[in-house]
Amino acid sequence: VHAPVTVTVTGAAGQIGYALLFRVASGQLLGPETPVKLRLLEIPQAVKAAEGTAMELDDCAFPLLKGIDISDDARQAFDGVNVALLVGARPRTKGMERGDLLEANGGIFGPQGEAINAGAADDVRVLVVGNPANTNALIAKAHAPDVPADRFTAMTRLDHNRALSQLAAKTGAAVDEITKLTIWGNHSATQYPDIFHAEIGGKNAAEVVNDEAWLADEFIPTVAKRGAAIIEARGASSAASAANAAIDHVHDWVLGTPEGDWTSAGLVSDGSYGVPEGLVSSFPVVSRNGSWEIVQGLEINDFSQQRIDASVQELVEERDTVTSLGLI
Ligand code: NAI
Repeated sequence: VHAPVTVTVTGAAGQIGYALLFRVASGQLLGPETPVKLRLLEIPQAVKAAEGTAMELDDCAFPLLKGIDISDDARQAFDGVNVALLVGARPRTKGMERGDLLEANGGIFGPQGEAINAGAADDVRVLVVGNPANTNALIAKAHAPDVPADRFTAMTRLDHNRALSQLAAKTGAAVDEITKLTIWGNHSATQYPDIFHAEIGGKNAAEVVNDEAWLADEFIPTVAKRGAAIIEARGASSAASAANAAIDHVHDWVLGTPEGDWTSAGLVSDGSYGVPEGLVSSFPVVSRNGSWEIVQGLEINDFSQQRIDASVQELVEERDTVTSLGLI
């Protein structure tokens, strides 16, 4: 029997929170052997709604759920945390400039980084879902100097899963026949879903597709703009698929990625593939022994390099903005 793992979810009363918490409590995050204690962090106005969600969690009588605490205080919510899912963020409102958005989020992710630094467990793992996820992760990391940088990650798994699904639809393959897809760069419209190293039933995916126009004009924009398409169709942003991706990310981080495959995650760059050190950028990754490692040695063609560079350039600009605002 494993000791309970403390999982903190911020923005717990939001849409993603509602789609996420039940899956965490049922054992889908950390496996059927690991009990969890939930900590829900919300802003004061949303604490009551979080209490309602907690009542429903109680009503599921999940055997693995060993307690729920609700707080509007980051220090309390992150005290002893093992897995921190940073979902709550300040959304972009009409007319808001990117700088304003980054500044508003700096006011959230800076203090949360400090609280993680002050109280988290030694093995803490942080996944930032709240947008702009990469740069919010960069901000949180900058405020947690005592936590190893590789514990701060940003979610690009939803983009990865979207790319798998689009490639499966195009080729008629099943999603689980496709391996080694990569999302590079920022979780934004500049992200680059790369199929040049992907395999479909062991064959090179780009060769199977053999259609560069489809790649450039359909696949890449469809994956990159899928979030907007969901809002258009559903009248609300993707929440269940985002929660599912967060589950996949942490599950694979803790329990390992399958042999012969990799996935995508936003990690603090060590300079791999020319991505400036310290930026939180998406890479092809495997998890071994509970740590992410960037897959090394992939040859990047010109088509890919241009697109990776463009997305990384956007991350550089976001970093420069938060630096000049004094947020990191
Ligand atoms: P939502 O608006 O339904 O919920 C956000 C919740 O966060 C609200 O309940 C709000 O009260 C809370 N919150 C705000 N500031 C907070 C703070 N300082 N501390 C704790 N809680 C706080 O939004 P939703 O749909 O749940 O999305 C959450 C975030 O996830 C958004 O930033 C969204 O853009 C992002 N997202 C990221 C994806 C990715 O692939 N990385 C995919 C989909 C969404």
